[in-house]
Amino acid sequence: MKQTSSVPIPSFGNPDAIGHVTGRSLYLDDLPVMQETLSLLVLDAPVAHGKITRLDIQSAATIPGVVTILTAQDVPGENQIGGILPDEPLFAEGEVHFQGQPILLIVAETAEAAEAAKKAIVLEIDPLPVVTDPREAYAKGHLLSPSRTFKRGDPHAAFEKCAYIFSGIAENGGQEHLYLETQGAYAYPTESGGIKVHSSTQGPTAVQRTIARILGLPMNRIEVDVTRLGGGFGGKEDQASLWGALAALAAWKTGKSAKLVPHRMQDLRMTGKRHPYSSDYKIGLDTNLRILAYEATYYQNGGAAADLSPAILERTLFHATNSYAIPNVSATAHSCKTHLPPNTAFRGFGGPQGMFVIEAAIHHAATALGIPAFEIQEKNLVQDGYEMPYGQVLSDTKAIETWRNAREEFDLDHMLKDVEAFNNTHHYRKKGIAIMPICFGISFTNTMMNQARALVHVYSDGSVSVSTGAVEMGQGVNAKMIQVAAKTLGIHTKRIRLETTNTGRVANTSPSAASATADLNGKAVLDACKQIRTRILAVLAEMTGSGEVSIENDYIWVNQNVSGWSWEQLIKICHTKRTNLSAKGHYATPEIHFDKTREKGHPFAYHVYGTAITLAEVDCIRGTYEFDTVKIIHDGGNSMNHMVDIGQVEGGLIQGMGWMTMEEVVYDQQGKLRANALSTYKIPDIYAVPREIVVRFLDEAGPELALFKSKAVGEPPLMYGIGAYFAITNAITAFNPTTHLTYTAPMTPEKVLLALYSSSIP
Ligand code: MTE
Ligand code: HPA
Ligand code: MOS
Repeated sequence: MKQTSSVPIPSFGNPDAIGHVTGRSLYLDDLPVMQETLSLLVLDAPVAHGKITRLDIQSAATIPGVVTILTAQDVPGENQIGGILPDEPLFAEGEVHFQGQPILLIVAETAEAAEAAKKAIVLEIDPLPVVTDPREAYAKGHLLSPSRTFKRGDPHAAFEKCAYIFSGIAENGGQEHLYLETQGAYAYPTESGGIKVHSSTQGPTAVQRTIARILGLPMNRIEVDVTRLGGGFGGKEDQASLWGALAALAAWKTGKSAKLVPHRMQDLRMTGKRHPYSSDYKIGLDTNLRILAYEATYYQNGGAAADLSPAILERTLFHATNSYAIPNVSATAHSCKTHLPPNTAFRGFGGPQGMFVIEAAIHHAATALGIPAFEIQEKNLVQDGYEMPYGQVLSDTKAIETWRNAREEFDLDHMLKDVEAFNNTHHYRKKGIAIMPICFGISFTNTMMNQARALVHVYSDGSVSVSTGAVEMGQGVNAKMIQVAAKTLGIHTKRIRLETTNTGRVANTSPSAASATADLNGKAVLDACKQIRTRILAVLAEMTGSGEVSIENDYIWVNQNVSGWSWEQLIKICHTKRTNLSAKGHYATPEIHFDKTREKGHPFAYHVYGTAITLAEVDCIRGTYEFDTVKIIHDGGNSMNHMVDIGQVEGGLIQGMGWMTMEEVVYDQQGKLRANALSTYKIPDIYAVPREIVVRFLDEAGPELALFKSKAVGEPPLMYGIGAYFAITNAITAFNPTTHLTYTAPMTPEKVLLALYSSSIP
């Protein structure tokens, strides 16, 4: 049989693009609903902490159009939605622990009736003390999960030998996901005593499992279907389950279809965000600027329930040293329980927080030593053979290569000279440059989650249907799944249709997350398509009597010649011969493991590297800033879909820059969300993005564990955005060398202005 691996992967853009720009793409709220679908409205806690002393729904329940009002007492199964730990009730019982916590669900014939009912509910809460600060929570012993420490070498002894030691505090704020499509679910009873739910979720199985638990039903009675998401960014990895459970409960109780799509302000108020962290660092260097020792302690602001916080905490530790080879490391992380909505997954999953702290430590050291940070960064990049603090020995590292290429291709020396010249001739405008290297581990850190399945049918007319556990949320995974099927079957992409993600067709899915969706699901599609290809080729070989048969580029090849057969004819014959034209594929990442008792192992299939150079300009009268350029060398492997991957790098970068510079999730001391609308929460718009973004891919094949050697790309580029923080900082110090540097993100214009005119000299 002829090798098909020489055939290029069919390249095409994102098949969703046309639907998006013409408005034909279907999101949850576009799905046609049944007649008499009920309207749902959540009453959520108005305060962050308190005892419910009175809850009277009598008069609300009698309002015309109100069907029922559901509380904790109405949950037939377990009143529990906690994914990792069972610490989060669906409906509050007795006490509320964060503003926005669900208390009850109003089920009504119309949205107006539901609103009227909400106003008529009598709720009284005796306030209790509110803690919003993670260090305060830690001091009180309020932890969500056990603290963890990753260690390498002997930092204590190593600090004794350091020529320079610097320590300080670094803090980062939260980040609102601001998916364009809010959370939501639409549920209806099915004939066999089950419930079908359309959900805007990254984790269809998580929604299915949660509903089964809430209703006290086996999972096989719950079917979850996902068309696509208008963005998830981690916010719908775990937190879509709430909305699914509420809609399913209403459908179960009433026997009717029910739909719940929260208002944007309610979504903002009720859902968790990226975790703010407050961290201590201590960094020690020798006279050659080698980092000999690093110590960090992270106080993660977890919110009122665990949600995914323990896993996110773990990833902070995995990325504590970013792309630096440090012989002696000790990193400890505490997951602190506060009275905020449970914070959750957000692109990078704790990695960005860990990386910000070490970058702050390096910047601190450089500033104190009077040198640019990149001199320290460059001297300490990881190389093959280095053992990360968690035990994985690195191979195929691209840290130095992407760094060197960025320096050379983008002519850093020239950029630095230009900045110096500019700063010498401008008094009230200053420029600053920062380099940001990244090293991000690919795989769910929970080894068990690194598995996926796919179901492929070739219909008797030759058309192909592919189902996977992957959820399309704008990241282009559907395009990649189609490419895999097309290449493996040897046919044109237009023959292939990607189905919705459905728990009935593909079971036990891991959420589409950890940047691993294409790798995991794509390899499962590969497995299924290979099985079908083998069966089809056997029929062809038997028919032609030739051992040399293949299907490539939509042609049927026999003895290395294009035959007269068409794909349709061949499939028809296979069907006539009663060949199995369906296959289920399965993939489980090999080689990975992690031992939590020792905190050592080989958790990642591989790492993604890259280097970004950011050039910022600060207006030293106003404190405002702009970005002239961000130039990136990204380690994408053999990028299998260049358009999609470039989009991910650009989008991730901007999202990271937003987190580091302008996005400010403000809660007041009472735990109330002040940045509760788009008027008070600002994300980057067309005016905030850099004037220029240059993305070059390091054109080197990725490892075997990457799908077609095309490396995962979803999350890593977000961390390029950390460079924006330090580029601004460097512009500030160019204006005011004695500024009092604090490493507190985001670097909003207000903070820039204060820093421009602050002084570290008393
Ligand atoms: N890109 C878009 N357009 N929308 C999204 O919601 N989510 C990000 C990233 N890129 C997201 C996105 C996050 S948090 C992850 S983990 C990955 O995509 C998930 O998809 P992947 O595994 O296919 O990369
Ligand atoms: N990344 C993203 N999501 C996750 C992970 C992870 O490592 N583990 C569990 N959910
Ligand atoms: Mo992404 S934070 O792993 O959904």
